[in-house]
Amino acid sequence: MNNPYIYIKGPCNLKGTVEVSGAKNAALPCMATAILTKSNVCLKNIPEVEDIKIMKKALEDFGALISLDKGTLSLSLKEIIKPVIPTELSSKWRASILTLGPLLARNGYAKVSMPGGCPIGDRKINFHLEGLRLMGADININMNSIEAQCQRLKGIDYTFPDVSVTGTENLIMAAVLAEGKTILRNCALEPEIADLIEMLKAMGANIRGKDSRNLEIEGVKELQGCNYRIISDRIEAGTYLLLGAMPDNELEIKGVNINHLSSLISVLKECGVSLDIDKDSIKVCGKVGLNSINVTTAPFPSFPTDLQAQITAFMLFLKGVSRVEEKIFNNRFQHIKEMKKLGADLELKENFALVKGVVKELKGNCLKASDLRASAALVMTALKAKGETRIYNAYQLLRGYENMPGKLRALGADILLKEE
Ligand code: EPU
Repeated sequence: MNNPYIYIKGPCNLKGTVEVSGAKNAALPCMATAILTKSNVCLKNIPEVEDIKIMKKALEDFGALISLDKGTLSLSLKEIIKPVIPTELSSKWRASILTLGPLLARNGYAKVSMPGGCPIGDRKINFHLEGLRLMGADININMNSIEAQCQRLKGIDYTFPDVSVTGTENLIMAAVLAEGKTILRNCALEPEIADLIEMLKAMGANIRGKDSRNLEIEGVKELQGCNYRIISDRIEAGTYLLLGAMPDNELEIKGVNINHLSSLISVLKECGVSLDIDKDSIKVCGKVGLNSINVTTAPFPSFPTDLQAQITAFMLFLKGVSRVEEKIFNNRFQHIKEMKKLGADLELKENFALVKGVVKELKGNCLKASDLRASAALVMTALKAKGETRIYNAYQLLRGYENMPGKLRALGADILLKEE
């Protein structure tokens, strides 16, 4: 599409049921895990979003035969032909780094580009590289390219200096085929890690300590194929939950893992949202006059940075001044200046924003999405603004939300993906 943008005509009151798709951030490492075996891997509940299509392309370049149909991905990588990710792919897609650990573990050689600059802030990969080097990889960084080689990787005892989601995933994938035992300490606890571990166990990996900060991995010589279903997307679910809690909306969100959303659920309860929670679905009904809140992002199980922009949109409809602090990424407030263009009243301080509940009507405008989650937050705000809004750089939304315009249209929104 040429210069795609999202067109919204508001205000829209949303009503109905929405089904949550598979988790992008679980599907990406699980797809990278398929590199570790010569056997067939079948993954279900794969969301058909742009980031997944890029991972598919990278795996095909390595030599994999892949089919992706209605969320089912079948993959076979009998022989690794070209373990290289070209700069054009890496520069727009950070998940390329997830292929480094498994390529080294199975193939002993990989060349991937340094993941490109990211609009949400510094996204270092020093823990990934440090861990792999300790396992015996020889890693050279030349300009933008990471070239790494090794004999069989060796088990290590490594403590992450800080919690890293993809860092934990990369070292787990490297360790499962390494010689001997690996102990990884201070690992991330995000549900996507547990999903990766479940998939690896189904392939024959020996991993102990799932859902704890410390993992023990006994390397095996080879892994078999598997048939595995990816968890549902807690960030997509959280986005629709926040949308449903906005005034005059009434949604049922289906396919939710409630345990993955407990921090968001307690924040919503705190400000007075009434929720009807069932085993794997939540009904939420938005109303005006709810209490303001303070939210600070932190690694799981605390409030996710990936919902920070969306809760900022929700705060615009609360009574009084809310506060939202970002503790994971140092530049993840770019939605603020775009929300102001709709007439919202927000003040950005260093790593926090003060959000004044709506006193006047929001009005449609031309906006630019800086990143994936910011684009969702702009859609949420624009749906409540009067008149037409165009959100440019729509590619960002398509990177991680499966068919969001279509799902919103089914709930009554006047929203279209258009191009110029
Ligand atoms: N960090 C380091 N060194 C490292 C790795 C991380 O200093 O080697 C720092 C980062 O600079 C950052 C913090 O640690 O300040 C956390 O980064 P983390 O490594 O946990 O983030 P990530 O693994 O690159 C994943 C998700 C992000 C999500 C973060 C935090 C995937 C593919 N990406 O990124 O998802 O925001 O964890 O939960 O899983 C999104 O989906 O919109 C998204 C950005």
